[in-house]
Amino acid sequence: MNKIEHAHLKAGDQNLDLPLSTGTENEMGADISKLRSTTGLITFDPGYGNTGSCKSNITFIDGDKGILSYRGYPIEQLAEQSSFLETSWLLLNGELPNQSQLKEFTHQVTTHTMLHENFRGFLNSLPKSGHPMPMTAAMVSAFSAFYPEPESPRVLQETVIRLISKYPTLAAWAYKHSVGQPLIYPRNDLSYSENFLHMMFATPCEDYEVDPVIARVLDQLLILHADHEQNCSTSTVRLVGSSQANLFASISAGLSALWGPLHGGANQKVIEMLDAISEMGYTAQEFVDRAKDKKSQVRLMGFGHRVYKNFDPRAKVLKKACQDVVERLGISNRQLEIAMELEEIALNDEYFIERNLYPNVDFYSGVIYRSIGIPVNMFTVMFAMGRMSGWIAQWMEMRNDPDTRIGRPRQIYTGQTQRDWAPLDQR
Ligand code: CMC
Repeated sequence: MNKIEHAHLKAGDQNLDLPLSTGTENEMGADISKLRSTTGLITFDPGYGNTGSCKSNITFIDGDKGILSYRGYPIEQLAEQSSFLETSWLLLNGELPNQSQLKEFTHQVTTHTMLHENFRGFLNSLPKSGHPMPMTAAMVSAFSAFYPEPESPRVLQETVIRLISKYPTLAAWAYKHSVGQPLIYPRNDLSYSENFLHMMFATPCEDYEVDPVIARVLDQLLILHADHEQNCSTSTVRLVGSSQANLFASISAGLSALWGPLHGGANQKVIEMLDAISEMGYTAQEFVDRAKDKKSQVRLMGFGHRVYKNFDPRAKVLKKACQDVVERLGISNRQLEIAMELEEIALNDEYFIERNLYPNVDFYSGVIYRSIGIPVNMFTVMFAMGRMSGWIAQWMEMRNDPDTRIGRPRQIYTGQTQRDWAPLDQR
């Protein structure tokens, strides 16, 4: 495509020059902020699929080329060489930390892991049968009642640390509550991922020896999920924050947005699909054939992506991580075998090739979580653990951007035109 030099809009007899914004990777946007005041028109873009809501220097995605980078660093390098806390610092501060910055950040995060003791009572007031996702959203929202509102930069910094350090504790506590087990307190001598595994799987009767290979894979999963630019939950965090709502309230709203099956819930669907294939005795080929048949309404879950049309770089990393976990645990995993067979067949099938359908991040993450014993209803809670630092980085960028205005989209009204109220006996 030729480089666009300017954009010009003709609406009736009005002409409008639309200033162009060009990003550092040369993606371009036409600024329509004066469109309504000059022409009376608004743009109509359901789902905002073609709308840039902000300028951001955090995450870059090129879906055609399968590129994802945080602050310019390719996701493959971060997943291979960085840790989740180092990547979180990068997202929050724009640069990789030096040794003393990383040490201090790690110290801060590992020493703020305890929850206020009243959270035990808070959790106990929720039914055990409840899903852990609304439990975590409610607890994060309740942080506003327990901790001061982040008004000064110093308190904001404490709030950021609190969210990143306490989220694994409340996630593990939500799980323990749902299975009726005693809550396990954090251990500050463990790394971020190790500590979470400890709180999930230790009991007062038996300690849990954390396997460093499993902890490393969990760290990789958190890195891969840490940010994905202006997706539904991140846009929610920014939109709520644009009203000057505090960080806890904004993150809680993001958690609720992430819970939807079209967003953070897809890896659960992959597991359900793999279970169904195995239980109903389908071969991988038979299931792929069903997914190609439009009448069946079946899709190959974990395949295809709205943005990535070549490959999902996160899925590449996870395929290897998945093999590492299964090898390490020495488990024969029928789900993984089915997943591999499905991938092999689909990647060589004309239907999937023509439509650019490749495995996405969810194709493998569910299999990994299940192999390490994370229950299916905790998958989205895990996704949120990784996304926490991205949400916070995006929220802070929004708050520091002088161009931020309260989010307030317009609409095309399609209801009744004005009419007069009538008394009951005349309706
Ligand atoms: N299995 C079979 N056919 C598919 C699939 C699939 N997984 N995905 C897309 N298609 C077909 C679809 O039927 C359509 O065919 P046709 O052109 O003949 O009508 C074509 O491919 C284009 O589909 P689309 O729905 O227009 O594509 P989209 O970009 O709007 O949808 C998607 C992307 C992710 C919603 C879709 O690929 C899908 O439903 N995948 C399965 C669910 C899934 O894995 N979701 C997780 C996404 S990753 C989450 C994240 O990054 O946070």
